[in-house]
Amino acid sequence: GLLVTEATYILAIDQGTTSTRAILFDRAGSVVAVDQREHEQIFPRPGWVEHDGLEIWENTRMVVGGVLGKANVNRGAVAAVGITNQRETTLVWEKETGRPIANAVVWQDTRTGRLVEELAGDAGPRRYAAQTGLPLATYFAGPKIRWLLDHVDGARERAEAGELLFGTMDTWILWNLTGGPDGGLHLTDVTNASRTLLMDLRSLQWDPALCAALGVPMGMLPQIRSSSEVYGQCHPGILDGVPIAGILGDQQAATFGQGCLERGSAKNTYGTGNFMLLNTGTDIVASDNGLLTTVCYQLGDQPAVYALEGSIAVTGSLIQWLRDNLGLIPSAPEVEGLALSVADNGGTYFVPAFSGLFAPYWRPDARGAIVGLTRFVTKGHIARAALESTAYQTHDVLQAMNADSGVPLRELKVDGGMTANDTLMQFQADILGVDVIRPKVAETTALGAAYAAGLAVGYWGSTGDILANWQEDRRWSAGMEPAERDRLLRGWAKAVHRALDWVD
Ligand code: G3P
Repeated sequence: GLLVTEATYILAIDQGTTSTRAILFDRAGSVVAVDQREHEQIFPRPGWVEHDGLEIWENTRMVVGGVLGKANVNRGAVAAVGITNQRETTLVWEKETGRPIANAVVWQDTRTGRLVEELAGDAGPRRYAAQTGLPLATYFAGPKIRWLLDHVDGARERAEAGELLFGTMDTWILWNLTGGPDGGLHLTDVTNASRTLLMDLRSLQWDPALCAALGVPMGMLPQIRSSSEVYGQCHPGILDGVPIAGILGDQQAATFGQGCLERGSAKNTYGTGNFMLLNTGTDIVASDNGLLTTVCYQLGDQPAVYALEGSIAVTGSLIQWLRDNLGLIPSAPEVEGLALSVADNGGTYFVPAFSGLFAPYWRPDARGAIVGLTRFVTKGHIARAALESTAYQTHDVLQAMNADSGVPLRELKVDGGMTANDTLMQFQADILGVDVIRPKVAETTALGAAYAAGLAVGYWGSTGDILANWQEDRRWSAGMEPAERDRLLRGWAKAVHRALDWVD
């Protein structure tokens, strides 16, 4: 076919928890082509989750080549690249060779449990919350860096000597795209940096006292930049000369891609976990209800926009667990059919506290529980309880969001893989008691990164273009009897108590 040589598209690289995707978007914000590769999930011990950094970089190269091939274009058709990524996942590598010193420690990994307890000391988990917006929890990157420096032979000395670099996946991909050991750029954006426990939310810079407290040498940290600016150009070999102009953590990218640009607007993404973000404008709102305060985005030299976030560790990954660990379903989408083989949950509740419980509980010691079992219960009920757990966890986060903001949300924009599950989305609306709305372009994460990059190079003129491109696809409205809803939520609350009380 004809090779398009004008710069007609924006390329988003979405480096997620289970896979890496490359997506080409046009000016309407529509998907032109997609390529995707999964990477290995490594579970060396209970509670540990790792990824191979080199495999992820290799997959990134493959999907970038793949998506250009599918669209039948070359790099000349790409106006700019935006990067979005699983947040917090921590990699340390050698500056000279680009070799990681260990597997990446994934955001779900709980190995830093004891360390974060020590860091909290008598002051408790909110010790650094005023400055960072985050509770001390296993989730965040800073303690993961510290763990690697403490446990990999010689790592601390080498980090102090300036031989090692730290990055989340955005930084790792950017560094490799721009030359790696041969002059690669070592940068991150404010949204990713806000997930480390090392950045001050006001100054948007690494804080020397926080770095000292966590034992992280500042020389290994990337420079913090805005989410939308030209950081540099891709190196010969891949996308030679194409500007990289946007970086956003995946949940912030989805918020941006959903057009949640107004203070008070919110979205909920259904991925391996669920993440609800509420745009709070330029205000830094502290949470009294177990939410995080995080950077939502920063466009060039404009002031940063902040968000409240409710993070849920396990939602979609529970369905994968039913598939891979229990063999209950041959493929993830088949969970819907299995769940529909029964009329209701049969009294069964499933609390997937595989990484402890995140928002609003922040209890690393919680453990998964399936409760309410009788001889009556079938695998259909287990599937149903697993699906319902996503909706109940989202309910708990929305309650916290409403309590913190004082203004109840009247509707919720949703996106991500599980929003294809009609049964779940109807149940979600029923349990929340508000409308649940899905946009036409479901790839909001990648789209958000594309917007950030496209705005920086003038491919889109203003954020008004984002709002103009957003279109509603489907809306689910609450229909459940309030008494039924209350009964289900009471059952869920009891089940959560079992999961929290597991470890004494
Ligand atoms: O904070 C973790 C989050 O960024 C992971 O997102 O979509 O890879 O599950 P996802």
